[in-house]
Amino acid sequence: MAQRVQGTEDLYGSYMSAWQHMEDVARELFGSYGFDRVETPAIEQVDTFVHGIGESTDVVRKEMFRVISGATLPGLLEQGSEAHLKARQRMALRPEGTAGLVRAAVEHNFVPQGGAPVKCWYGEAMFRGERPQKGRLRQFHQIGIEVLGAADPAIDAEVIVMLMQYFELLGFPREALALRINSMGDAACRPVYRESVRSFILSHKEEMCADCLERAEVNPLRAFDCKNDHCREVMADAPLAKDNLCDECASHYAQVKAYLDEAGVAYEEDPTLVRGLDYYTRTVFEVDVASAGVGAIGGGGRYDGLMELEGGRPTPGIGFAVGFERIEIALQALGRTLATPVPSCVYVAATPAQRAKVFAVAQALREAGVRTEEDYQARSLKSQFKQADKLNARVCVVLGDDEVAAGMATVRDMATHEQVQVPLDGLAAHVAGLMA
Ligand code: HAM
Repeated sequence: MAQRVQGTEDLYGSYMSAWQHMEDVARELFGSYGFDRVETPAIEQVDTFVHGIGESTDVVRKEMFRVISGATLPGLLEQGSEAHLKARQRMALRPEGTAGLVRAAVEHNFVPQGGAPVKCWYGEAMFRGERPQKGRLRQFHQIGIEVLGAADPAIDAEVIVMLMQYFELLGFPREALALRINSMGDAACRPVYRESVRSFILSHKEEMCADCLERAEVNPLRAFDCKNDHCREVMADAPLAKDNLCDECASHYAQVKAYLDEAGVAYEEDPTLVRGLDYYTRTVFEVDVASAGVGAIGGGGRYDGLMELEGGRPTPGIGFAVGFERIEIALQALGRTLATPVPSCVYVAATPAQRAKVFAVAQALREAGVRTEEDYQARSLKSQFKQADKLNARVCVVLGDDEVAAGMATVRDMATHEQVQVPLDGLAAHVAGLMA
């Protein structure tokens, strides 16, 4: 039997309705903040991710799924490497949405001079070659937003407020959500800070794991995320970003916190929060639900240098993404779900002699906007009623021999079993009224 790829999931039934619900809530809430939906391709040139996410990140080094077309495969196999491929032939499935969106913003000049900020949201599948486990998939779904062209700390706070509002609308009680924030500094102060963390790690060489020693060279700040208990103990004394911010970054961070305080949004400052993508500058944030044990359900931050890395004009940016699968797990841990009830419908049942009439009656109901089901298996009337129950029919339209001969149909309320006779020519409008 064919099987799905490990770490991927099929979305169907209530799971599909859960994902659609997340999109619907996003469309409504983000729309009220002025965000428009965008969709970028699932495949991008590898360089889009290398430049944006950063060559030294785990996402780029270990987790990107490369895409090889049939046309380039023979050459690649012969040469044994992709070195001879042109940049445009080196492709990968997107591991996240920000780099591709910023690439699109540069390519189509989303942010014309004087037109900032531009606000976009997306709901898409992402691909990361991680070791599959609970809440960690190889194909997962994110809803994300990006604001391009605003450096004002008010937008940082606004985006975080919107994120928390989104989680609440999805059914999380506010007290279950832990919001952590930090500031990573900018091009002026971050390199100095990075160097001081590198020196710190090297001065504790003997106590750190091999991975952290490698991190010291390629991406020292990631040592804060090491799972090794001993490394964590050592890193507890490492220099912290918040103590190494330049005046501009310190003031920006203070203003973000003041706006959050004003909005009444509770947060915890976590000076070790560094995030796994290199493009971040200044504000970063993550949200998790302690009882769910799936890690962050959402996270994001500011990326004021990313537009330039993707070949555009200097343009500040900020955004976040949340993970659908982890949100559903976290909600279930709280006894809730994103799944929406199966929508109710109208079922058109008929005696064998009236079966041919069902087609036109069902069609009229659908044209009146009513979700309509019918029998295609020549079931008995009794079985049709059973089927109607299974399909969550609120109303059953019954085309019996006597009723149809009199130009009527029986409309039966499936909950109360009350029945009325309705003329066939006004049937659709009558039923649409009942279902409204
Ligand atoms: P991220 O923190 O890498 O950020 O991912 C955002 C969310 O996607 C995570 O909090 C998590 O819920 C979910 N997620 C990540 N990896 C997996 C996985 N392997 N399986 C299941 N869920 C996963 C970003 O992707 C940034 N692009 C967010 C952003 C937007 N920053 C600025 N703008």
